[in-house]
Amino acid sequence: MNRPRLAEMLRPASRQPEGRRFTQLGYLVIAAAVIAAAAATMPLGKQHAVLVAVSAAAIWCFFLVEWLLRLVFAPELAPGVSSWAARRDYALSPFGVVDALCALGPVAVAAAGFSPPVISALLLFSSLKVLRSIPGVHLIARVFRNERRTLLSVVTLFALVLVISAECEYLLERGSQPVAFSSLPAALWWGIVTLTTTGYGDAIPVTFPGRVVAGLVMISGIAVLALFAGILASGFAAEIRRRDFLAAWDMVARISFLRDLGATTIAEVARLLRPQEVSAGAVVMRRGQPGDCMFFIVSGRLEVQIEPRPVMLGDGDFVGEMALITGEPRTATVIAREHSELLALDLADFRELAGRYPELANAIQKEAAKRSGSMKPASSPSK
Ligand code: CMP
Repeated sequence: MNRPRLAEMLRPASRQPEGRRFTQLGYLVIAAAVIAAAAATMPLGKQHAVLVAVSAAAIWCFFLVEWLLRLVFAPELAPGVSSWAARRDYALSPFGVVDALCALGPVAVAAAGFSPPVISALLLFSSLKVLRSIPGVHLIARVFRNERRTLLSVVTLFALVLVISAECEYLLERGSQPVAFSSLPAALWWGIVTLTTTGYGDAIPVTFPGRVVAGLVMISGIAVLALFAGILASGFAAEIRRRDFLAAWDMVARISFLRDLGATTIAEVARLLRPQEVSAGAVVMRRGQPGDCMFFIVSGRLEVQIEPRPVMLGDGDFVGEMALITGEPRTATVIAREHSELLALDLADFRELAGRYPELANAIQKEAAKRSGSMKPASSPSK
């Protein structure tokens, strides 16, 4: 495997086959590490203990090789930075530290005298690596960063209600319950269990005023948690909208046909287009089916199955426009010949776009007329 492909293999959330396969292999090794971590804590016979030790050694070898590869290929994964700066940045990044600790696990295990709890803890620690390839994790981090001020206000409110309610209960309950409400910290435990609506029931106010305060704290707890959930939910929705818009913008700007529209128009068009990915071999549309959308090809290759020979469409082309223009069923079956990134434009949005940008609609219609003139559809749809 050459250097660029090896680097692609290591790229987190890579869409290339080598990247996907390496990520899947990583998941498998981590799953094996979790199983081995559980097995290491069990009373096993000698044979099984040897099996666990051999598995742990193989898992750590994998982690060591992965860490070394990531160090070597860090410059390819962080272009624009000098080689050593890229390696240093990776080594000191949270995932770099996790990788290093996983790779150097056997050193700690040997230092601890091969103790099963240490083996188990270090193997289980490697499960943190999965966070790298989960796109949602970065999204959560961004939402927390974006909403930090609002969240901080809610946390402050939560802390205020907690401290005041705990102090009230301490003053009201300490006479009748000198153990459960013996001090402010003891009452704080009651407060946090009540405010978070956990309610273990190990400390319960028994006086009338104490119960009134407890009731108010319970209601405040629900209100504060609802505030938290609301802020996070709207933050997620805004972030997903922003990410989809940026992805669509980036894709629209890569299509030469749409690139000439100018920044404002691209922004408008990007709002109407829906990014979509298809894997090699997938049928994008079938001949004879009703057409409700067309696609712009951002990257990849689609084969239009017509006779006498199929037509191959690639980056910047569009497909599926005829059915939208004529209202007739699809004239041909279209199959992805490689993993392709598409931008889908629904029928209603196509009409809106055609109304607003007649020159765009004319260009599409011209191409459609050219295609229908040259076309003789394949006699039967094939896969
Ligand atoms: P539609 O008829 O909606 O669905 C099949 C699509 O295949 C069609 O739109 C065109 O986009 C595309 N197509 C049909 N004939 C040709 C051709 N001769 N060259 C390129 N693309 C074609």
